[in-house]
Amino acid sequence: MGNGGDGVTPTVVEEMARPMERVLNVRGGRRLYGEVSVDGSKNASLPIFVASLLAEQGQTRLLGVPRISDVEVLCDILRELGAKVAWHGDAIDIDATALTSCDVDQELGQKIRASTYLFGALLARTGEAKVPYPGGDRIGSRPIDFHIAGLRTMGAEVYTEGGFLVGSGRLGEAAIYLERPSVGATIHLMMAASLGQDTVTTITNCAMDPEVIDVARFLSAMGAKIYGAGTKTVKIMAVKRLRAVTYEVIPDRLEAGTFLMASGQTNGSITVRGVIPEHLTAVIAKLRQMGVTVDILGDSIAVRAGGPLRATDVMAEEYPGFPTDLQPCIAALLASARGESLVTDLVWTDRFQYVDELVRMGSQIKVGGSGVRIQGVQRLTAAEVTANDIRGGAALVLAALRAEDGMTRIHGIHHLDRGYAGLIEKLVDLGADIEEDVV
Ligand code: EPU
Repeated sequence: MGNGGDGVTPTVVEEMARPMERVLNVRGGRRLYGEVSVDGSKNASLPIFVASLLAEQGQTRLLGVPRISDVEVLCDILRELGAKVAWHGDAIDIDATALTSCDVDQELGQKIRASTYLFGALLARTGEAKVPYPGGDRIGSRPIDFHIAGLRTMGAEVYTEGGFLVGSGRLGEAAIYLERPSVGATIHLMMAASLGQDTVTTITNCAMDPEVIDVARFLSAMGAKIYGAGTKTVKIMAVKRLRAVTYEVIPDRLEAGTFLMASGQTNGSITVRGVIPEHLTAVIAKLRQMGVTVDILGDSIAVRAGGPLRATDVMAEEYPGFPTDLQPCIAALLASARGESLVTDLVWTDRFQYVDELVRMGSQIKVGGSGVRIQGVQRLTAAEVTANDIRGGAALVLAALRAEDGMTRIHGIHHLDRGYAGLIEKLVDLGADIEEDVV
């Protein structure tokens, strides 16, 4: 509390010392119309970026990488390791010929989850790695034990010291079983096993997500020999050299899903362009169950809402199931659907930090076990709310687009910057009334 005379008003010095914060002011109730194009996938771009370090010579050019803050942090980390990284318009070039370090900066590494991938990539390339335990969204406990166990099975010595994961040794032949189909562990181990001395690695119970396939396609373009990516068993025959290539990452199915839902939420009519509709099968099925009309035409998906949304149960699970990363967004839609819905998340069983914020906006949601019970309400009301992670933040934006009375103020919007490129600009182009403010 300030002491500017009345004990409440902050002094000028206190006012100046207060960090500036960006907030979103959203006036809901507008129908969204028009076309929107999605950027490249965040969760494919980040590991592909890291995998580019496996080329000992030459310049990798990546197309479609979204301009999000997680990517910018990864650029900084790669530069610290000695790689040359530069944007050229929409393309980003990475030249890792002259790596000077295998030691990832603690502050930078802790900012993002994807820094974990550097561990296996650096081990494969140099035989040494030191990476801080990663950061990323707080959506419950996020262990990396499968990654560590897999690399140990491949022959690496791995230990923890001072908050860092330290590793050394040459990676060799291995048969790895993942206790769960982890996206990160599948990608990480596949990447690490690609470069080596003619060894064969088999990974069973793999994640089958499109991002896993995209990383495998990138590595294959570099010369890797990977079989079965996108199925439960992936086999990798290590090659001695990988080359730098030009590659375009797949479109972001989670960004696309967010816009499909924005259309459903506002009773609008949006065509989302540049997507791979098969990646959104589960999302489209749920939207149709809710009464939304979805038409697929080539690489576009057109969504028209036709009246009130209907309640439905959703279970988020591994791909090709409904994606956990859209679980908060669909909950925001179901908050004002007719009837009661049960939303469960089998991947991140505690991913319900957004619920208290939606309750502030008048929704009736109760958390229990690994799910939430949602009783749809007729109106959501504008309120002051805070985003705690990327997808929870997107859910609040969707709820705010629906709240008709007054202005919703959303704090914590740096989380949105981490995962969505230009989300607010794109929504404004579709007719949303959103302004960014600095307070
Ligand atoms: N798990 C373990 N041990 C491990 C790894 C995973 O127990 O070593 C468990 C996790 O606790 C979780 C499950 O396995 O219950 C699946 O986790 P997974 O490894 O698949 O998740 P991740 O690789 O850490 C990626 C995405 C997440 C997305 C999940 C699931 C990136 C950078 N992150 O995380 O995306 O939710 O897969 O699809 O690719 C987001 O984009 O907002 C986001 C959080």
